[in-house]
Amino acid sequence: MAEFSKGLEGVVAAETQMSFIDGAKGILEYVGIPIDDLARNSTFEETVFLLWNCRLPKKAELDAFNTDLRSRYRIPAELTSMIQSMPKTAQPMHVRRTAVSALSMYDPSPNGLDSAGKPDIPAMRSKALNVLAQIPTIIATFDRHRRGLPVVDPRANLAFAPNFLYMLNGEAPTPAMARAFDICMILHADHGLNNSTFTGRVVISTLSDMYSALTAAIGSLRGPLHGGANEEVMDMLHEIEAEAKKQGKDVMDYIEPYIMDKLAHRNEGARIMGFGHRVYKTIDPRATFLKTFSKQIAADTGNMRLYEMSSKIEAIMAREVGAKGIYPNVDFYSATTYHSIGLKLDLFTPMFAMSRTSGWAGHCIEQVTDNRLYRPAAKYVGPHGAPYVPVAQR
Ligand code: CMC
Repeated sequence: MAEFSKGLEGVVAAETQMSFIDGAKGILEYVGIPIDDLARNSTFEETVFLLWNCRLPKKAELDAFNTDLRSRYRIPAELTSMIQSMPKTAQPMHVRRTAVSALSMYDPSPNGLDSAGKPDIPAMRSKALNVLAQIPTIIATFDRHRRGLPVVDPRANLAFAPNFLYMLNGEAPTPAMARAFDICMILHADHGLNNSTFTGRVVISTLSDMYSALTAAIGSLRGPLHGGANEEVMDMLHEIEAEAKKQGKDVMDYIEPYIMDKLAHRNEGARIMGFGHRVYKTIDPRATFLKTFSKQIAADTGNMRLYEMSSKIEAIMAREVGAKGIYPNVDFYSATTYHSIGLKLDLFTPMFAMSRTSGWAGHCIEQVTDNRLYRPAAKYVGPHGAPYVPVAQR
């Protein structure tokens, strides 16, 4: 029996060809290609093809993949009505989780097994593509519903990123905004055996279905220690601004005492959101890319103050806890980037989930291709031979 490792730290629980991480050197590759190269040169659609096929597509293959994806943007009319009956105060991640789960009910054969009860890989891919194509529509439909606006139908002549921004805002985004969002989608697509990906693989390893695995993964991602951190980063920046104002201080002068106070309470669980990572002990390469990128987009959209605040927080953290390997992770600069694109705070985590759906689905297919049921053991630390005491005598 292997040693107990709290949080499964250091435990290798799957083999994957999709992404490689070297946490000490700050390297992330998708199928061997550095993330930086993909962010500069690829598109989200091409990256999804790469992750699902473990190779880059030829031009005709990419065209066919794009056409297929775009033909699936529309959600069932019943699901639109269901979303429109949801409370306007609901949190988008809860809506998303429920809607992805509901999609299974509009699929005539949701289970993805063939007649012999074996995983039907083409059917699973098709289900994954459906969910990936329809998640933007689900999120945009809910966002417009809660704002009291009419639903905007998807446009099959738009790529994944601009189509989402179009459905959200009712007008096509500028090419710069569409590209910014596309890059964020590429950066978040896959990341080894992170908590939500592991969750998806655990669920599919029972030969459950793609919808159940993706629904469970969404539940995992929304936690503040995982995908929810980007919203918390923005909350932190706003909190610093508000507190500085209350105390009549310049916001840049208030950052140092704020961070030092949080660090002083580290032992009681206080965290600086957007810092630290189970795997990276240096700066997350996605954060390196996003730092430069968020500076440019913040300058273009008049959000330079937020970038400067983030940069100062990073410098203080490097001085105080850099030696412990606590550096910015992907969520730190993605917060400023999403804010600059004009996305509402509670859509940050759904954006992460929208992209990561591609990674989850790829891992689910990888899992069932060479499946073994996940069933680890627990180390029992309770009593033995305890007497059963009748309720009246307790
Ligand atoms: N702020 C202050 N101290 C920190 C932080 C932080 N953000 N992260 C880690 N530490 C310290 C922690 O206090 C502990 O110190 P000590 O050894 O003195 O007790 C040490 O570093 C190890 O921390 P841990 O929480 O045991 O490390 P972990 O590997 O279990 O947790 C983490 C990783 C991401 C949950 C944690 O770094 C954290 O809570 N960060 C803030 C939340 C966050 O930004 N999450 C997004 C993660 S990246 C997106 C994704 O891939 O999901």
